[in-house]
Order: sequence, then C-alpha cells, then structure tokens
Amino acid sequence: MTTPYDPADDGAQMRFDGRMSYSDYLALDAILDAQHPLSKAHDELLFIVQHQTSELWMRLALHELTAARTALAADRYGPAFKMLARVSRIFEQLNSAWDVLRTMTPSDYTTFRDSLGQSSGFQSWQYRLIEFTLGNRNAAMLRPHEHRADIHAKLSAELARPSLYDEALRAVSRAGIEIPSEVAARDLARPHQPHPGVIAAWRRVYDDPETHWQLYELAEKLVDFEDYFRRWRFNHVTTVERVIGFKRGTGGTGGVSYLRRMLEVELFPELWHLRTEL
Ligand code: HEM
Repeated sequence: MTTPYDPADDGAQMRFDGRMSYSDYLALDAILDAQHPLSKAHDELLFIVQHQTSELWMRLALHELTAARTALAADRYGPAFKMLARVSRIFEQLNSAWDVLRTMTPSDYTTFRDSLGQSSGFQSWQYRLIEFTLGNRNAAMLRPHEHRADIHAKLSAELARPSLYDEALRAVSRAGIEIPSEVAARDLARPHQPHPGVIAAWRRVYDDPETHWQLYELAEKLVDFEDYFRRWRFNHVTTVERVIGFKRGTGGTGGVSYLRRMLEVELFPELWHLRTEL
C-alpha cells in the first residue's frame, strides 16, 4: 500500500498557530459571514453573492480608474493604459457573471423579491462613483445617499474633481491640440456636453495616428472600456426583462424603461461621434 501524499513533505506550511494564514490575510471570516438571506428561498444566496462579488469588482475598478486618472494627469501614459486595460477586463468579468444570474427564473425570483424591500442596485454608491469618475455626472443621483453622510461626501467630492474624460481632454490640450475654452472651463459637477470642437480635436489624432500615437492609444483604450461598459448595461437590462418583465423596480423606477434609457448614455461621446466623419 502506498503512503498517502503529504504536502508537508514538499514544504507546505501546515500549522498556523499565531501566524497569518490565507483566511486571516483575506479577512475571509468577515467576507463569508456577510451573506444574510432574509427568506428561505434557495436562490436568494445566488442573488446576494452576485451583487457582493460585483461590488468587489467595482471596488477594484474604482481603484484602477482613480489611479489611471492620476497617471494621465501627469502624462504617464504607460501606467494609465495598463490600468485602463485592466478595468476593461474587470467589466468583461462582470459581463460573464450575468450568465450565472440568468439561471434564476422569474418564478425563483418571486420567492424572495419581497424580502428586498426598497433596496436596489440603483443605490449602489460604488456604481455611481464609477459613473461620476468617468464623467457621467448628475447631482440628482446624490439624493439616495443623503442618509449616509460619509458616502454622500465621497460622491460630492468626486463631482468637484475633473473626470477621467476631462483629464483625457486636458492631455489632448497639453499635446498642443486645441480644446474649446468653454469645454475646458465647464462646470465639473455637470455631465460633459458633446462639442464639435472636441470632435475636431480627436479627429486630428485619428487623421494622423503616427504623430499622436499616445493620444490615439488613449482614445482607443477609452472606447474599449466604454464598449465593455455598454455591454454590462445591456446584459443588465436583458436579465432584468427576463426576470421581472416590465414590472417596476424595487428601487421605484419604471424598471426596464429606466434601464433602456440608461443605454443611451455616452461616456466619451466625441470618440464615438468622430467615427461617422472619418
Ligand atoms: C435579477 C437580478 C436583477 C434585477 C431584477 C435588477 C433590477 C434592477 C432594476 C429594475 C433597476 C432600476 C432601478 C429600480 O427601480 O430598482 C436596477 C438598477 C441597477 N442595478 Fe440591477 N437588477 C438585478 C441585478 C443586478 C446586479 C447583479 C447588479 C450588480 C451590482 C445590479 C446593479 C444595478 C445598478 C448599478 C443599477 C443602477 C443602474 C443605473 O442607475 O444606471 N443589478 N436593477
């Protein structure tokens, strides 16, 4: 009879009294103790885990987007590109995750939907912070967070900073391509309004990529990211229609009608509009 394999013979650590283990480092006790279904429905755990993992990926996306914006502001294109590429991959991950949630049928969802009360992803402050960071800004979206001064302050502070797209336009301007002064001096708390002068600026980049390679690569990184973000919105609204049809959302909006409206949001509008002209 052969002796069962003992990983300790390969040097594996087997004792952790007083030493940091995998669980300790990752705070797994806190994470794995944070799922509290309010009903006895089998699928409620799926619903909770799906949202919690999405929030964890959003946490990382914010970390990367904020750092990418800082790098861009300092003309550190290489690190900014690396981080933007990572954020696109994060959204790809989030997009694949819908396949798991789609295994939940409308009948499954109705078994616990009432437990959610008024709570909804609409109140996801990290999602709102991602949108604000990118440039999709709407002060009305602060209101659901008035009861949490800390979160409200975080979101308000973001509305006072230049967005990632603002920083991209500043980079264009620093490279000697004119950005209209009214765009450069816009009220940061409001969404960027598409401007023909900005299309003209990006056009100079796309007409001569060799000369403006870094800005060209930046533009394509932004478009790539928005592409994945759009897919996330589309997957969300399709999943919602599949699960609740045209019922109102738990957060109070018209549901699918609200989410379809959000499909029209353009984060980096001129980068899309210029394609018609090229
Ligand atoms: C069966 C699953 C889901 C359903 C039925 C659903 C339903 C909805 C509905 C109806 C809305 C509109 C607001 C409202 O009135 O409630 C909404 C918004 C939202 N949901 Fe979901 N959702 C689901 C899964 C998810 C997941 C897994 C996430 C990941 C975090 C998520 C994140 C969001 C976000 C961020 C919004 C706000 C979107 C915006 O304002 O543009 N949802 N959801």
